[in-house]
Amino acid sequence: MSSTAEYVLVTGGAGYIGSHAVVELLEAGHNVVVVDNLVNASMESIGRVEEITGKKVPSYQIDLLDKEAVKKIFQQYKITVVMHFAGLKAVGESVQLPLLYYHTNVGGTVNLLEVMKEFGVKNIIFSSSATVYGAPQYLPVDEKHPVGSCTNAYGKTKFFIEEIIRDVCNADKEWNAVLLRYFNPVGAHKSGKIGENPQGVPNNLMPFVAQVAVGRREHLTVFGSDYDTPDGTGVRDYIHIVDLAQGHVIAMNKLKEGCGCVAYNLGTGVGYSVLDMVKAFQKATGKEIPYKLAPRREGDIATVYADPKTAEVDLGWKTTRGLEEMCEDLWRWQSNNPNGYAPASS
Ligand code: NAD
Ligand code: WQD
Repeated sequence: MSSTAEYVLVTGGAGYIGSHAVVELLEAGHNVVVVDNLVNASMESIGRVEEITGKKVPSYQIDLLDKEAVKKIFQQYKITVVMHFAGLKAVGESVQLPLLYYHTNVGGTVNLLEVMKEFGVKNIIFSSSATVYGAPQYLPVDEKHPVGSCTNAYGKTKFFIEEIIRDVCNADKEWNAVLLRYFNPVGAHKSGKIGENPQGVPNNLMPFVAQVAVGRREHLTVFGSDYDTPDGTGVRDYIHIVDLAQGHVIAMNKLKEGCGCVAYNLGTGVGYSVLDMVKAFQKATGKEIPYKLAPRREGDIATVYADPKTAEVDLGWKTTRGLEEMCEDLWRWQSNNPNGYAPASS
């Protein structure tokens, strides 16, 4: 039997960013339905979301490539907005397996858009990335910066999907899309119940730092200390995951205004180096983070940070959580869940 209540469909809702967005959506009073194929997540995260919010979240293990299964969700729930997080995100893997990335990320999105069209659901918020800007031509990076010069297949999927969504909006003015270009999301929900749960060796800086602190890794390897930055290490714009998640809920207002296709940076506007982050984490947690300087990682750039003004002016959104809170919240999650969502024995 189909429900008459309105729902936000969250694809990839069991993942790191999706699960935090589900909490913020529920706390803002929205009904949520989650689909996730669990390739990089576990439904345990949704159980934790339910603990945090005291609300039930209907969740389905569905692959976006399985169009018939996606259709059934649209038949069962009255969906008004889709938040689309589902996709693969490992940059290095995307260079090795480009077809897997194009098939999953682009193919999955096209399926989703087709089903949305079929059911007359024309509002989407898409997880894009600062990676669409490639190596910055100027700093801070605003939304007018040229896009599309990214060098890895993952980044190109984000750029291609942005273009596909833009074309869909151009073809039918009833469509509205907000493309959110994330800088570097870090941290965890205050409860310490949900957080980032990387499989295998973390690719990203802060999950690696947290695993060193909890004793799962011996030391951090700092990729490059000869960049043209104040201390020679790479500079990025780290944003608290809850600020980022709240940006999605606020962006829903833009859809209601009939915005067409618009893109916003979600960042703080401030860059910190790898060593700044190590120091901040040590200060916030009292944990020593041994590190070794090593050569640059292929494909990395020296410095990138956002100009977040457009989101502030247009959406009324800006970040409120600083480095200390990012590190404290990350550590609460990691120390309470040393193995992430996996049971202690695995
Ligand atoms: P994540 O891997 O934790 O979440 C993605 C979720 O999508 C996972 O739960 C995974 O199981 C699911 N998924 C993957 N392929 C799917 C498919 N075919 N069908 C259904 N579900 C599928 O990653 P995240 O960090 O939460 O990222 C969420 C989104 O934000 C991704 O699109 C990612 O590219 C984008 N993004 C992430 C970052 C970042 O640094 N974490 C930065 C910019 C953009
Ligand atoms: C940050 C800094 C590293 C790990 C990547 C993707 C990007 C986006 C976010 C999705 C850099 C350094 C890292 C380590 C290190 N994802 N570092 N030792 O590279 O800015 O962005 O994740 O869209 O597309 O490319 O983030 O966390 O990997 O690195 O020294 O073990 O930390 O060199 O300077 P990055 P990151």
